Amino acid sequence: EQATVLADVTVTITAGPTREQLDPVRFISNHSSGKMGYALANAALMLGAKVNLISGPVSISAPQGVNVINVESALQMRDAALEYAPTSDIFIGCAAVADYRAAQVSEQKIKKQGDDMAITMVKNPDIIAEVAALTKNRPYTVGFAAETQNVEQYAKNKLKNKNLDMICANDVSREGLGFNADHNALTLFWQDASLELPVADKQALAMSVLMEITKQLDH
Ligand code: PMT
Repeated sequence: EQATVLADVTVTITAGPTREQLDPVRFISNHSSGKMGYALANAALMLGAKVNLISGPVSISAPQGVNVINVESALQMRDAALEYAPTSDIFIGCAAVADYRAAQVSEQKIKKQGDDMAITMVKNPDIIAEVAALTKNRPYTVGFAAETQNVEQYAKNKLKNKNLDMICANDVSREGLGFNADHNALTLFWQDASLELPVADKQALAMSVLMEITKQLDH
């Protein structure tokens, strides 16, 4: 019965980090392992959904039956997201997208210079905000918020500023949770409600998140 909850529903999920190239041998990235996003893909698949997983570079593999779109940079992730979002019923942005990229990617390896060096960065587009701003075929749009302080306030700000339907906040300063861990804890926020999902493994949390989204769609 579980396998029919999301029958005929298409879910697109972003997962993992992005890599922002500096030169042919270097990049800036973060500690996202993709575990949370891949767990969401697995849960959506188990609920009977058609799943697109737009993934930054990770070392885990996706379950059979998921359509994986591999990307590296935020700009590539944005192109894939905007390609798949309009045919999706649900879009979940779980990727840890770099907020900035190098203003110029050096064609040659950057040589060692003086004692200091500076790299000029420019802002990346906000992928989930662009998805949430779609005026035609806008999916139910769910973001994540990775915070180390003021979790509730910052998450609520992101919910509002990015025009999301729901946001899953995690306090990534908590030992053993968040980035690269097998466990996590989430607080879900909607415009007018919230729900605590206490510490659990990411598979169980992912299933709870999908079930909460399903309830909203049924309304
Ligand atoms: O991958 P794991 O190791 O399992 O770790 C899971 C996780 C901690 C990465 C995950 O639970 C999580 O919190 N993902 C979001 C991380 C993040 O970048 O959060 P943020 O608060 O910086 O971004 C807020 C939201 O905007 C997110 O939905 C993000 O995908 C999105 N965003 C951010 C910047 C940008 N340029 N484009 C975006 O779409």
